Amino acid sequence: MAKTETGAQGARYAHVTGWGRYVPAQVLTNADLEKMVDTNDEWIVTRTGIRERRVAAAHETTASMGAVAGLRAIRTAGLDPDDIDLILLATLTPDYWMPSTAALVKEAIGNQRAAAMDVAAACSGFVYAFATAQAYVTSGLAKHVLVIGAELLTRFLDYTDRGTCILFGDGAGAVVVSASDEPGGSLGVELTTEPQGAYMIWLPAGGAKSPPSRETVERGEHYIRMEGRETYRFATRTLATTALESVRRAGLTADDISLFIPHQANIRIIEAVAKGLDLPMERMMVNLDRYGNTSAASVPIALAEAVNSGRVAVGDAICMVAFGAGFTSGAATIRWTADPARGIAGDAAVDPSTVHVRLPQDWDAFDPIPPALAEIMARPDPLNIPLDDVVPDEPVHASVS
Ligand code: ACO
Repeated sequence: MAKTETGAQGARYAHVTGWGRYVPAQVLTNADLEKMVDTNDEWIVTRTGIRERRVAAAHETTASMGAVAGLRAIRTAGLDPDDIDLILLATLTPDYWMPSTAALVKEAIGNQRAAAMDVAAACSGFVYAFATAQAYVTSGLAKHVLVIGAELLTRFLDYTDRGTCILFGDGAGAVVVSASDEPGGSLGVELTTEPQGAYMIWLPAGGAKSPPSRETVERGEHYIRMEGRETYRFATRTLATTALESVRRAGLTADDISLFIPHQANIRIIEAVAKGLDLPMERMMVNLDRYGNTSAASVPIALAEAVNSGRVAVGDAICMVAFGAGFTSGAATIRWTADPARGIAGDAAVDPSTVHVRLPQDWDAFDPIPPALAEIMARPDPLNIPLDDVVPDEPVHASVS
């Protein structure tokens, strides 16, 4: 990792200076899922609040989505990729076991000097990575850290299991955490991992305990499994207390927080958090209706959308809080100091079609789209057409029903 100007003494504060997000264009609606599994829109909306989620195209990966979100955060911060000293990427769906997805992102964004590593804490991963960034910055080990949450969950779902396949979607979000002597930024962090939660959400095969084989694939052990009710209980028990502890460490109370950015898993869980904190739902950021649960990407996507839509102002205290497999949970309370108007320009500065994750020349991968999603991925999607590809008078693509 490159030496930083902050030196051994470190900066006293770790500010969020950049933020960005990327979601794939293709939408998977509840109506689509009705055609694939025994479920219905009414059940999904009532029990989860989710109406649609995004699905990565065949050419997209966790690294490619993370690279676009990361570059957008760097541009929002007014930095160049080489200003970044450390890249932390939180994911449970890495492109490969090795190298780290962070290493692929480093190459894709054109950074020559950063250290790069992945962080594995499932849906809490972004908050864990953010806390790590704060530690690096305030200790003086790094001046600018790029923190990414990126997930491609739709390739790890069993589309015959209605208990899981309706919940998850793909996407990426990122922030830049920068050293400063000005007060503000990340003020209080709380991280927990509960001892008895290990097998409540898990992906049984593919690791050292159960390496991939024909048998593990036949048994569907390469798909995410989840005890929904236990997870729900854990989330409603933990989220408010984790958030409150982080707020307390920041020297604040829940009333001081203008916006909570909770992990976007289930609207009923977010409502329970609001109730636990005795706050109205207006103080909770919600976008799960459009993206479902994007695991480690959900908090940074929601943060970027909250800031870009004018829900965060300079001087506001906000609290990000997440829970996930492990069982893990984490929260970070931040005094916001960056000009919110920068985010939209930062997003516009990065055209996703110009960001590429390099592949070995002889690599010839199989089509990664799960068969259950093939029909949806084949439907024309006007959002996917780059603007400079539109030829006047060309027939308009059929609209999506
Ligand atoms: N469509 C229709 N019916 C369904 C569906 C579906 N998609 N899924 C389950 N059902 C049925 C069940 O079979 C059950 O039927 P029964 O009463 O006849 O047995 C009934 O609906 C109720 O099932 P529950 O599992 O009790 O439903 P619940 O209200 O708990 O909702 C849910 C399920 C949405 C999964 C909820 O438990 C939940 O959100 N849990 C938390 C999950 C979560 O947040 N995970 C995030 C962490 S993920 C990570 O870290 C990667």
